[in-house]
Amino acid sequence: MIELNQLGRDIANCRACRLAEGRTNAVPGEGCPQADIMFIGEAPGENEDRQGRPFVGAAGKFLDELLYSIGMKRGDVYIANIIKCRPPGNRDPLPDEILACKPWLDRQIELIKPRMIVTLGRFSMSLYFPGKAIGKIHGSPSSKNGIIYFPMYHPAAALHQGGLKEVIIGDMKKIPGILAGSKPVEDAPVEDPAQQLKLF
Ligand code: URA
Repeated sequence: MIELNQLGRDIANCRACRLAEGRTNAVPGEGCPQADIMFIGEAPGENEDRQGRPFVGAAGKFLDELLYSIGMKRGDVYIANIIKCRPPGNRDPLPDEILACKPWLDRQIELIKPRMIVTLGRFSMSLYFPGKAIGKIHGSPSSKNGIIYFPMYHPAAALHQGGLKEVIIGDMKKIPGILAGSKPVEDAPVEDPAQQLKLF
């Protein structure tokens, strides 16, 4: 817990990439320090930058509803992003920004030791499923080194494409069964840093 708090302070002082220049607040992440489930989104938007907290805008409201649908709330899980500072105008994160920020995420995972990592959206998915298409693998868990990786669409996708809302709700509802071991999980080579460099 103390280490996670210290990590948050270190992230707030990070100047490893250009995004430090435009931020109001870095957004390290929040939630239960011993969470079984860690959600990893993309990057802070305007509201998150202002408040220094992840997923506090419209996409966050939907994420809260998704958590509620499986009997959970924010404080039961850990919510982070692959990028800790807001890209200007909410543009997509750039490859060098993702690589500069990744050690923070890796350290968060080391400290929290989640049983399951839920990737939200294609950027987060690409870190763990290089070369895969979200349309093909969303909702299919894979296990590596004792962690279950579960790719989902980004909650914001439902705000832009209404048809995805039910898909996202359906994927979320699989999570309790996967964690309880009642759904099969394939072993898969989910992380390949060499591939990650080619991704974006
Ligand atoms: N979208 C994200 O990916 N992360 C946030 O924190 C907010 C919106």
